[in-house]
Amino acid sequence: MICLGIETSCDETAAALVEGHRLLSSVVASQADLFGEWGGVVPEVAARRHLEVIDSVVDAALREAQVTDAEIGLVAVTRGPGLVGALMVGLSWAKAYAFARGLPLIGVNHVVAHAHAALLGTGPSYPELALIASGGHTDLLRLRSAEDVEVLGRSRDDAAGEAFDKVARVLALGYPGGPVLERLAAGGDAGRAPLPTVRLEGTPYDFSFSGIKTAAFALARSGVRPEDVAAGFQQAVLGQLADRAVRAVREYGASRLIFAGGVSANRFLREHLQEALRPLGCALLVPPFRLSTDNAAMIAALGAELHAAGRTSPLDLAAEPVIHPFRA
Ligand code: KG4
Ligand code: ZN
Repeated sequence: MICLGIETSCDETAAALVEGHRLLSSVVASQADLFGEWGGVVPEVAARRHLEVIDSVVDAALREAQVTDAEIGLVAVTRGPGLVGALMVGLSWAKAYAFARGLPLIGVNHVVAHAHAALLGTGPSYPELALIASGGHTDLLRLRSAEDVEVLGRSRDDAAGEAFDKVARVLALGYPGGPVLERLAAGGDAGRAPLPTVRLEGTPYDFSFSGIKTAAFALARSGVRPEDVAAGFQQAVLGQLADRAVRAVREYGASRLIFAGGVSANRFLREHLQEALRPLGCALLVPPFRLSTDNAAMIAALGAELHAAGRTSPLDLAAEPVIHPFRA
């Protein structure tokens, strides 16, 4: 069955088609051009842009896959977490489409869906461990099935990507900061801007990025070269991600760990996480670069699985800016 996925939780309008675990097409219209001068997303502006482009993004996904509306059997859409106005555009569009064509609708959790971007092609082999690091979330998850997801740990303050964006803003690198900061760090020396690996008493899987972000600000203000600050900050993020990943892999005896979400587009983090896991006989499973950041292929992939497990959503499905209690 072909599943149409729709994603509008933040500043990317995306549509994709998957058939089982096979990706047929993925189209993403980024709004990054709108928010450079603001240094971050303006929710109302994002929602308006989603509304302007969503029809043409879906058309492009259908064209790319050479699929007609009549061949679609299921509609999956991000129901949260995210910006409520932005989510509502995708949800309303998906509900209207599903209603008009008499198709089942399925709302999915954006954070869990990020893990499924790495599972396209191969499919899952449960239980899976997944480290999701994005602009809104940093969560370490244990997926027992498509529906049954345990949160082992999460950030107590900033998400990893958010910290990248804020350090980049202080270094006047523009938005989104992650990719630019990564390029700058490549020419820097982390040893000249040492930052600690943060560990949290009693919750070994939780993260905290706010302290190292503030410490990076202080280093930048004290005259440490920007490239060294960038390298030191990136190294400290790696330290924290690797610490939690290694601990979880040991505890659960995992043979692979998924690393997904926008921050997983970072080559330095990919390479060094892989190195940290290798001695444990554990592989790092990452999505293709273009599916690390927000996309609808991951929404369609998780939606198709949930549907296969018997789940559907009602047409009055609500947007959930925060999904609590956490569920797929
Ligand atoms: O998953 P995503 O596209 O959106 C959310 O769900 O939040 O993640 C966006 C985040 C941004 O904070 C961006 O700076 C970060 O991912 N990011 C990166 C890189 N590329 C994107 N962070 C570090 N290194 C990168 N290469
Ligand atoms: Zn995301």
